[in-house]
Amino acid sequence: MTRLMLAGVILAVAGCAAPSPEPVDVSAKSAALADRFQADLQGQLQAAMKAGGPVGAIGVCQQAAPAIAASLSEESGAEVRRIALKERNPAAAPEGDLRERLEQLAAAPLTAEGKPAVMQWTSGSGADAKAHFMRAIPMKEQPCAACHGTSIAPEVKNKLAELYPADKATGFKSGDLRGAILVSWPVGAARDE
Ligand code: HEC
Repeated sequence: MTRLMLAGVILAVAGCAAPSPEPVDVSAKSAALADRFQADLQGQLQAAMKAGGPVGAIGVCQQAAPAIAASLSEESGAEVRRIALKERNPAAAPEGDLRERLEQLAAAPLTAEGKPAVMQWTSGSGADAKAHFMRAIPMKEQPCAACHGTSIAPEVKNKLAELYPADKATGFKSGDLRGAILVSWPVGAARDE
């Protein structure tokens, strides 16, 4: 009984004493999730492109991308998603301060070593505190241009228009910021490790 009460007091004090989150380094585990997201999706995309060309692969991408994001989120406890300034999937539109952060990333999508740039920050406080990791997804010629590039085949255009009537994700050149992977951890969970 006393012990339980004591635990309650400690929790209450800890809750009050932490109005803003301490910096939490989530980079390694976030990068690992982002790597798996991209490897899994690219594997499925390549297989679908081989089997049915870009027109067939659009539907595969539409199914696979949200499914991979959901399963990695469930497994990790983080929220894993893709976002973009010029989005195809309306769910990828950046809300709140994400737009400004994506604009910063778009200004320099690659590091000096030519690697996708990364940004990290924390948001919220108390129970809502989150640690975020965002990594650039740079546009490449192959295989991305078939569905995101500057000259897209008419049959691909038609299929995209059918599935994504508000599509903004075309006209990209190699090296542009196509989008980003965002991994957001509840800070409490990050601290438990
Ligand atoms: C076969 C067509 C196709 C190819 C090739 C393709 N994509 Fe996409 N891409 C899509 C579709 C369809 C979506 C929307 C998926 C969804 O509904 O979540 C998408 C969404 C995205 C998103 C999420 C943000 C948004 O706009 O919805 C990013 C980032 C992205 N693609 C990057 C790439 C990159 C980088 C490549 C090359 C490695 C690539 N894509 C190749 C069809 C394609």
